[in-house]
Amino acid sequence: MINAMTVSANGPIGIFDSGYGGLTILKSIRQLMPEYDYIYLGDNARAPYGTRSFEIVYGFTLQAVSKLFELGCPLVILGCNTASAKALRSIQQINLPQIAPDRRVLGVIRPTAESIGVLTKTRHIGIMGTIGTIQSDSYPIEIHKLFPDITVTGQPCPMWVPMVEYREFENEGADFFVRKYVEELLTKDPAIDAIILGCTHYPLLWKKIRKYAPKGIRLISQGDYVARSLRNYLNRHVEMDARCTKGGSSLFLTTESIEKFEESASVFLGKERVKVSRVSLEQI
Ligand code: DGL
Repeated sequence: MINAMTVSANGPIGIFDSGYGGLTILKSIRQLMPEYDYIYLGDNARAPYGTRSFEIVYGFTLQAVSKLFELGCPLVILGCNTASAKALRSIQQINLPQIAPDRRVLGVIRPTAESIGVLTKTRHIGIMGTIGTIQSDSYPIEIHKLFPDITVTGQPCPMWVPMVEYREFENEGADFFVRKYVEELLTKDPAIDAIILGCTHYPLLWKKIRKYAPKGIRLISQGDYVARSLRNYLNRHVEMDARCTKGGSSLFLTTESIEKFEESASVFLGKERVKVSRVSLEQI
């Protein structure tokens, strides 16, 4: 049950992802804004979201957002492209007015879409993402609102998340699937001169994607754009900024085992020792 949360909260910024990938977003945000407090929530027990239906991703994401609200977050970032594609709009329009009208939920697709205008000369771009993100058409929809002249071609890359999760991203075996998806995308539209890596895991495949994407093609990793857009948002919304506490702390929550999270988080966060707790989200 989600109860109405009418009391305005001061607390950490919540960052949600289906699993570990959102740590790449958290990393960029903390680099730019180390003074804020953060709670990261990874729904590792139910990841990946990329192949799940709209209803399931929406339900799971709503539970996670409600949990972060319960923990006092005034602002939650869906640091997951699949959740941003399938759940953000419904949560903002249907749920927020009922459960927490004074809190905000933002995603990663809009900030990435905003960045693209100056990054392409040919006005042909590619999006690589999970099946869910690509099928939702969220990137073309957001990009065309801002830049109707840009041709957007999507490429689902279903093997890339498992390759990162199983730590195969630097091994030779990964080359096959990186090359395959890059070639498929460029065959669909050879005029592409910029590719958005529209999934939180893909920065870890950067070197291999760079190897197979021709030199003239710009690769766009979204972390920095999301971080800058968040800072911009907080500068423009001083009342929200005042409610985001600033103690420089990070708390990590997972729906899976603490040990598993600690071990895998190091792939995304390097040597940092993370303080992890387990949470359960309500079943729908
Ligand atoms: N975090 C997801 C995204 O950015 C990828 C992992 C998943 O499929 O759950 O789309």
